[in-house]
Order: sequence, then C-alpha cells, then structure tokens
Amino acid sequence: MPKKSIRDIPLAGKRVFTRVDFNVPLNDRGEISDDTRIRAGLPTIHFLLDSGAAVIVATHLGRPKGKVQDSLRLDAVAARLSELLGREVKKTGEVVGEEVTRAAAALQPGEVLLLENVRFHPGEEKNDPELARAYASLADVFVSDAFGTAHRAHASNVGIAYYLPAVAGLLMEAEIANLEKALHDPERPLVAIVGGSKIADKIGVLKNFAGTVDSLLLGGGMANTFLKAKGYNLGRSLVEEDKLVAAAELLRLATYNNVNLCLPVDLVVAKDQDDPHPRVVTVESVPGDAMALDIGPRTREIFASVIREAGTVLWNGPLGVFEKEQFAAGTFAVAEAVAEAGAFSIVGGGDVVAAVEKAGVAGKISHLSTGGGATLEFWEGRELPGIAVLAEREGAGK
Ligand code: 3PG
Repeated sequence: MPKKSIRDIPLAGKRVFTRVDFNVPLNDRGEISDDTRIRAGLPTIHFLLDSGAAVIVATHLGRPKGKVQDSLRLDAVAARLSELLGREVKKTGEVVGEEVTRAAAALQPGEVLLLENVRFHPGEEKNDPELARAYASLADVFVSDAFGTAHRAHASNVGIAYYLPAVAGLLMEAEIANLEKALHDPERPLVAIVGGSKIADKIGVLKNFAGTVDSLLLGGGMANTFLKAKGYNLGRSLVEEDKLVAAAELLRLATYNNVNLCLPVDLVVAKDQDDPHPRVVTVESVPGDAMALDIGPRTREIFASVIREAGTVLWNGPLGVFEKEQFAAGTFAVAEAVAEAGAFSIVGGGDVVAAVEKAGVAGKISHLSTGGGATLEFWEGRELPGIAVLAEREGAGK
C-alpha cells in the first residue's frame, strides 16, 4: 500500500523533524565533492517551508561510530544547504540536549535548523528509544526523506517513528514509486546490469535477479569471479576465491530460470590501473601478468544490443575502473546504450550515478536513485526498516 506523504497531512504551524540522507562525499580539504544528495532533498524542504512548517533537518555523515569527529561536523553541509535553499540554515553543535531543545522551540514557520551529525551520538545506530524520544520531543511530525539510509534501523530514521506521526518526503515517495514499478510491474524485457568490484556485497540482489529478470549483464571486477568459476584463467585480476562456489550456483540458478546471463567475452587488461598501455584480449587469453580493468569492445556491443531491446533497465555498479580514462569506455558505452534505449531506466549507487553524469547522459535516465546499499536491498526484495515504519495512505496508518 502506498505510504502517506507530506502531501497528505496538514503542515502549517507544525514543527517537522525531517530525516534526510546528506551523507555526501568530502574531498581531502573537507569540502563537499558531490552535492547530489543535498539537491535531491530540496523539494521536500521547500514543500515543508512553503506549507508553513518549521523544519528541523537531521542527517548522518560518514561513520563516526558514536563519537564526535570534527572532520565530520555538518558545517559545510549547512552552508551548502543554505546556499541551495537561498535562505539561512541555523545549525546546532549537538545532536540532542538543552541547546537543541531551545533552538527547536524557538524555530519559526519558514525557518530551517540542521542538527549536528546524528552518528556522533552513541544511541543513534543502536536505535536507542531514549534518543528516539528525545528527537520526537522536538517536533509534531516526522518526515523521512532518507531513502539512502532506509536499510538501517537507527533512532533518527526508524525509532522516532514510534513516537510521532511518520510520513514520507517527496524524494522517499519518488524512490519507492520508481523502484517498486521496476521490480513488481516492469515493462519487459527487464534487463539488469550489475558491476562493481565485489560479488560479496551483491549476492542477495544477484540471487533475486537470477530468478526474475530476462537478461542479466555482469561486468566490473565481480565478473572476474564468475569467469574464473567457469574455468577461465584471469591472470592477476581481482578474483574472490571464497565466492567461486556462490558464483557457480548463481550461474546455475540463472540457467534454471532461463535468464539470459551475459558475461564479458573480451576484456581491457593492463599491468595495473596506472599502466598507460592497456590491451584488449578475449577471456580465453588473459596474460598471466595482467589484470582485467574494463569490459572489451565486443562485450560492449553485445551488452548494448541487449539493452536496446529492453523495456526496463536496472543498473548498479560500474563495469570498469571508469575513473581512469583508459578503463572508462565500457561503463560509458553502456551508459549511452541505456540512455538511448528509450526503456524505463533506474541507475543506483553513487559510483554509477557519477559515471552516467560523467558520460553526459544523466538527463536521459528515468530515475537516478540516491540509494547505494538501500537500493540493492530493495532490489533483493527485502522490506527496508526505514520504509516499513512510515504510515500507509489508506486506513488509519500506523
Ligand atoms: C549510504 O551512503 O549508503 C548511506 O548514507 C548509508 O550509509 P552507511 O552505509 O554508513 O550506513
């Protein structure tokens, strides 16, 4: 059943605790290197402000593990948010406590207050009920727009929902609608592209795809483990030896379910990532001293021909080390194929979203998901705790 959203409830004069996922990448100087997640949260904050609410914003940044870490304070996030909103964003130095209670109580409709990094508090990741109650005491309504954190059951995105009316923000609503449509009611053929370096993080999603999609295209470092499981010699390529059995099982599962599973037939190999002279070889002839760092041109063609026929495309994980120009061709060619296919397309995970942006085709993708782990768990078919706690649209809700 669809979740209740901020469009379904009265907001004028309310204090709204808004959990977002502004867990953005920072560079060596502590500056925000990609503000996509902050931009993605703007429509909800604007909507709340325009509806006459006072908006308390909470997010985590990094993994400080319950301790204050100065490099993970949210001052840069507050500054960027203020710049993007075009209005002042007040910020507290604490997560909860007297200063926060005072600042929240003084907050007026149309004003924004950002709390300090919630993961500075040891109770956050433990989903401590006392902390959840402290968050709830600041507001009248809980709004979750933190789709990227929905696979975590923490105090500021799950615990708080037990003490306040809990509804989805606009980003959360759009993420759920797009991801559900693609998974439960897809236009066929449904094509999934999975890359990235390791199978270990993606076993669940691969298992689900090996039973549900029409075609599964595998690339990136993780394809090496599948190729090795099929008996190919991969030289010095990254191979997860402890996942060879799992890879062989996934191959069998796909065959059993008539899924068209495509592995690379050729690869771009080099001595290492800094080698300026990569070579293209077939999967049968990877030299002993070389490592696979991208899919080859024949594989690009095969993948593109499958993608051209797709009704729906789901993509997680790059197909090579696209950050290096000499190993980017595979990921970019697939990005272009997805953009040109005219299929309903979803790209999930910070790295592939960055790749489609770098390829200049982001505007042609139907939905760029802000979730990394959350999108994967959604595609595994799991119920995410950060979504489960939100009230449902019909009936009395939670
Ligand atoms: C993410 O970036 O995937 C989310 O913000 C969750 O972060 P986490 O993996 O540190 O819980």
